[in-house]
Amino acid sequence: MIKPEAMAAGHAGKILDMITSKEFRVVAFKYTRLSALEAGAFYAVHKERPFYGELVDYMASGPVLAAILEKDNAVADFRTLIGATDPAEAAEGTLRKRFAESKAKNAVHGSDSDENAAIEGAYFFSGREQF
Ligand code: RTP
Ligand code: MG
Repeated sequence: MIKPEAMAAGHAGKILDMITSKEFRVVAFKYTRLSALEAGAFYAVHKERPFYGELVDYMASGPVLAAILEKDNAVADFRTLIGATDPAEAAEGTLRKRFAESKAKNAVHGSDSDENAAIEGAYFFSGREQF
């Protein structure tokens, strides 16, 4: 997912270019916006964390681009491409190093396991929207 502040800053095209140039195949794609309720559910794993309220407000603050990406070793390779959660710790050449504003507003979300990728993909896309 390309997060709201990166969309508002006009970074979507460059981010997608970097993703597709790394051999990720787009299986599904959508411009959409999460309600606070939906953002809270999407990040429910963090609900006990001190930053949860801020995270929910941020993720509901504007439209996002959601995608399902396919590749061998996709979860690990995508997390390598996006970089560390905090852009100050992200490696050169990563999406967050280049586009993130801060640890909280960090431009891109990536699933953290194949299991969660399937859950998150199904959250945004029906079967007939996946190709
Ligand atoms: P994501 O789930 O969005 O791909 O990010 P991640 O795995 O790198 O990081 P995670 O620990 O899952 O945190 C989810 C999102 O919460 C926000 N966050 N803010 N202010 C803070 O200290 C803080 N820590 C995390 C970020 O937007 C992070 O991506
Ligand atoms: Mg995460």
